[in-house]
Amino acid sequence: MKKVNINELTPMRRQQWLQHVIAPRPIGLVSTIDAEGRANLSPFSFFNIFSSTPPILVFSPARRVRDNTTKHTLDNVIAVPEAVIHIVDESIVHRASLSSCEYPEGIDEFTMAGFTPIPAEHVRPPRVAESKVQLECRVLEVKPLGQEGGAGNLVICEVLTMHVNESVLNEAGDMIDPFRLTLVARLGADWYCRVNEGSLFEVEKPNQQLGIGFPGLPAEIRHSRILNGEQLARLANVTSIPDAIPSFDDPHVRQIVQYFSNNPEEMEIELHKHAARLVNEGHIADAWQVLLHATAF
Ligand SMILES: Cc1cc2nc3c(=O)[nH]c(=O)nc-3n(C[C@H](O)[C@H](O)[C@H](O)COP(=O)(O)O)c2cc1C
Repeated sequence: MKKVNINELTPMRRQQWLQHVIAPRPIGLVSTIDAEGRANLSPFSFFNIFSSTPPILVFSPARRVRDNTTKHTLDNVIAVPEAVIHIVDESIVHRASLSSCEYPEGIDEFTMAGFTPIPAEHVRPPRVAESKVQLECRVLEVKPLGQEGGAGNLVICEVLTMHVNESVLNEAGDMIDPFRLTLVARLGADWYCRVNEGSLFEVEKPNQQLGIGFPGLPAEIRHSRILNGEQLARLANVTSIPDAIPSFDDPHVRQIVQYFSNNPEEMEIELHKHAARLVNEGHIADAWQVLLHATAF
């Protein structure tokens, strides 16, 4: 492992390293107003949810590493503690990025980035009409994390109301459909990623019942030369070791058993390879049957 002494780096290098590894980060496109009521729009990827009851979002406009100046968004939320946070998806990511240009104070970033301002219901900063998810927020607190360039400022926001475009809802219309909202997120440098059919996958987690865990796996499986840590984790997610089903019939298993009948070591390896493939495809119950078959020899 390469050791990165994060505190010995220049502020710029430190920021780069951290942005590459604390990733991907969701992007909040934040609308605020200054004391004169002029709107400002900027994206922030130091952004997340920290509580659901109360509903709290936090984003962080940092002091510029370059010259230690503060961002308009920060000045605005101190002057007028209100914001509309828009979740950035693929349909607005380039406009959101354009809005991050450092236009002089008072320049309307809505116009510059090609967005349409529409009134919010509970706060004064306008909403971005083109955004599919808009969260009207009251700013509860602004907490500076330092005074040097690169220091973040936590803007702690309470969500008052949320507007969601119906096109990203499920059939029932009562929840987001992750296949319909193509979220994007920021990594390091100029890298972004998108959440779509090709990148979505499920990880089943039994919340009520406990998985047997690695120590619960039979030794032959735990010390398999074939199954990797991730595959073992999926097997160890069962609540108890399944019983071998006598009628379990898999032509591939039959073939392996027949072919390697004189070489039990090779047979075990081939059965484990077959089980690994089944695990990768999500057929955990079948994988267990193959492995139980392997341990029977
Ligand atoms: C996708 C994206 C995410 C960003 N995230 C942050 C962030 O989390 N914190 C920050 O200080 N600046 C961030 N920036 C840079 C600000 O958006 C940029 O400095 C902007 O000009 C600030 O505008 P303002 O001075 O009008 O507030 C980000 C830029 C982009 C394009």
